[in-house]
Amino acid sequence: MPNFYFGAGLSAHQSEGNNQNSDWWDFEQTTLKEKGLEPSGQATDHWHLYEEDFRLAKELGHNSHRFSIEWAKIEPKQGQIDYAALEHYKKVFESLAKNKLTPFTTLFHFSLPKWFADLGGFEKKANIRHFVNYCKLIGATFRNDLQYIITINEPEIYAYHGYLIKKWPPLKKSFLLYNKVLKNLSQAHREAYESLKGINPDFQIGVAKNNQIFQADRKNNPFDHLISIFFKYRWNLFFLNYIKNHQDFIGLNYYFYRCVRADWKLVDDFCQTSYPTPRKSDMNWEIYPKGLYLNILELYKKYNKPIIITENGVADHSDKLREEVIKEGLDWIFKARQEGAKVLGYLHWSLTDNYEWDSGFTPRFGLIKIDYDDAFLRTIRPSALVYRDLIKKYQKLLDHK
Ligand code: BGC
Repeated sequence: MPNFYFGAGLSAHQSEGNNQNSDWWDFEQTTLKEKGLEPSGQATDHWHLYEEDFRLAKELGHNSHRFSIEWAKIEPKQGQIDYAALEHYKKVFESLAKNKLTPFTTLFHFSLPKWFADLGGFEKKANIRHFVNYCKLIGATFRNDLQYIITINEPEIYAYHGYLIKKWPPLKKSFLLYNKVLKNLSQAHREAYESLKGINPDFQIGVAKNNQIFQADRKNNPFDHLISIFFKYRWNLFFLNYIKNHQDFIGLNYYFYRCVRADWKLVDDFCQTSYPTPRKSDMNWEIYPKGLYLNILELYKKYNKPIIITENGVADHSDKLREEVIKEGLDWIFKARQEGAKVLGYLHWSLTDNYEWDSGFTPRFGLIKIDYDDAFLRTIRPSALVYRDLIKKYQKLLDHK
């Protein structure tokens, strides 16, 4: 086992392409199309080019890789298993092993089989069993390949976009449903956890949790402080409290630094704006690497579980900011470690450019650039080489401990 996991991540729908039996595919062909937004199509053709991607990851010094298995490809119709798709993922695991990349496998990363969504998805408690059955199938089929399993990616981001702000499938806006979905997702996780542990007690299981920094805007305004305390609890800890006895590690996805202000004009935005940091990503997201440190300390203190950074990165077309984000991020992570927090790894988002959901292909998160006009040509960005050198530096320090 490596003394620290250095790597990067991808998800199936965003990179493999042709996810035709998923709710997202359907959404792209209808709602997004009407809005003039681009569909995922072949994505980055990772389905065919995964070997090249893993070879590049290895070349860049990575020792681990996060990816997701697409339920809609495994079970395109209810009860019908596509054995060729299972075979494909077997080869994916083999290729990861060949390249000495420890797999971090996500089982649900935002996209669902269309049939499951049509049944009401995670809105209905009765549907949880379908998800658990799929998890069992994956657990049993890849019993000897799986190591770290992320059952659900960012439950609250999923529920927020799909059920609170009507931006992603199934385009609903109801606080009641939002809560219900979160509750059902937590039950789905707990049941999947139990079943997977039954298959192999050595599986390390957790979720990838999007946590944010909530900063009161005005130092002396008690309402700003109260609201930020509320969000800290509601966004960062609420879901984790539901599953606290069913996780071997906490996956931390960190991007956002929110500025909280008790202001009626901001009610629709949950009293939040983006914190005005000097550096912003191409998506106008704040850049605040210290937030990794603050989130790690908060999580470690509260749950005392190993933490793996399962996502952190930046949309940065010109590759100007990415190296700072990685360098400063790693500095803060290793500071948290020095102070006693058990952080096991850093998986940068993302290995290659990919399909950024309703923002299409424009945002560029990749350590590796994809040329969509030239047969998906992969080109390593300079920041990826900086990351490679940082890996070497930290590896040396870790080896001498
Ligand atoms: C998601 C990724 C996404 C990334 C950047 C995370 O919320 O897990 O799928 O690409 O953030 O937006």
